[in-house]
Amino acid sequence: KKDERWTAADNYVLKHLHPEESQLYEHVRFATQLAESKDIPSIEVSLLQGKFLMTQCQMINAKHVLEVGTLGGISAIFQASAGPEIKVTTIEVDEHHKAVAEEAIAHAGLSDRIEVLLGAGIDVLPKIRKEVDSGQRPKFDFVFIDADKPNNLNYYNEALAMCRSRACIIVDNVVRGGLLADDSAAENPGVKGAREVIGAVGTDARLLGTTVLQTVGEKGYDGFLNNLFAHVSSAVND
Ligand code: DHB
Ligand code: MG
Repeated sequence: KKDERWTAADNYVLKHLHPEESQLYEHVRFATQLAESKDIPSIEVSLLQGKFLMTQCQMINAKHVLEVGTLGGISAIFQASAGPEIKVTTIEVDEHHKAVAEEAIAHAGLSDRIEVLLGAGIDVLPKIRKEVDSGQRPKFDFVFIDADKPNNLNYYNEALAMCRSRACIIVDNVVRGGLLADDSAAENPGVKGAREVIGAVGTDARLLGTTVLQTVGEKGYDGFLNNLFAHVSSAVND
């Protein structure tokens, strides 16, 4: 489901808000073209969605970002570009994707601030968690979950266990062209993964706030699940 007006509006905004000659856009364009030339599926965040992640990181003054699902590295580049001190730890299951992402990250001059870990999120997150629990690694203050959708809830739970209070956790792709509310799609793995995580956060007293923001644009119609972690049992989740 796509509407050309959505792409046109994205392009209009890009033209007016985001100068093509900026360094960030050169880095992102390079990453996008590299991913395309290396046959990586073009399911990455759109430019404006990347910019949204970046502004969210800036708003909470993020220093330590965790991402599940690197793909070609584009969202990691946006998040790392939110500030000069931000470190991004991103997990990628596909060796080829990781290599391409690392090339794009190097081109962006961000190799020292973006660490790509190879493996399935479900295997790698517990290892990171051990390092966080033992104090070898700082807690995260921003998390972007954008990997295999059936594991959304697992990733959310693992991530929350490694977050500082007031961390922001965003999950991509929770609306899926509106299938979220379509019971005939209840067995669709993406829809199932979205419903599971939305259902869980809806009753999670550790959150200070949570919402779903439906999105349209060049990528079509989907949505972000946006959570603010509060770490205290008195949090009111509304
Ligand atoms: C798919 C995955 C994504 O993370 C996304 O943003 C869009 C599509 C997919 O697997 O089809
Ligand atoms: Mg996605």
